[in-house]
Amino acid sequence: MASHIEEMISEEQIDKRVREIAKQISEDYKGKSVRLICILKGSVFYTCELAKRISIPVTLDFMSVSSYGNDLDNDIEGLNVIVVEDIIDSGNTLNKLIPLLKERKPASIAVTTLLDKPSRREVDVHVDYTGFEIEDKFVVGYGLDYDQKYRDLPFVGVVEE
Ligand code: IMP
Ligand code: MG
Repeated sequence: MASHIEEMISEEQIDKRVREIAKQISEDYKGKSVRLICILKGSVFYTCELAKRISIPVTLDFMSVSSYGNDLDNDIEGLNVIVVEDIIDSGNTLNKLIPLLKERKPASIAVTTLLDKPSRREVDVHVDYTGFEIEDKFVVGYGLDYDQKYRDLPFVGVVEE
């Protein structure tokens, strides 16, 4: 079955917004460094684009969401951690993950997400830097998948069967 992807957020719009967030983070953490923790796999594109544009020192780590931090390669004690998400939907993932990361005593912990679907929220989560708030539609591209497909698209779009 052929699917068409209807563009929702263009490559240019994403690029502009990522630069704005990177600038904001660079200002907010001026004189410090940040550890970006990428939640695999969806956040890989956003994490890389963000990291390249942050002007203060950045280190990276990656974890899969099912592991709840047990697969981080490096300790986060004393670091300024920013968790990087592709999209926040129900909020359940972050609601479980953040307290577990806090137990590891980072100096601070913040959250950024490229996309947010606030209408879907089941539990409250604090988000520090949001790219775009979107309506309740299933989106793909820029790292987000549908059955592992479409991650490679440079824009965010909606699958139309
Ligand atoms: P939640 O906030 O715990 O419900 O989970 C968010 C996760 O669900 C995201 O990190 C994605 O992996 C996945 N997800 C939610 N909505 C979408 C979507 O529209 N497209 C692709 N993945 C999604
Ligand atoms: Mg995810």
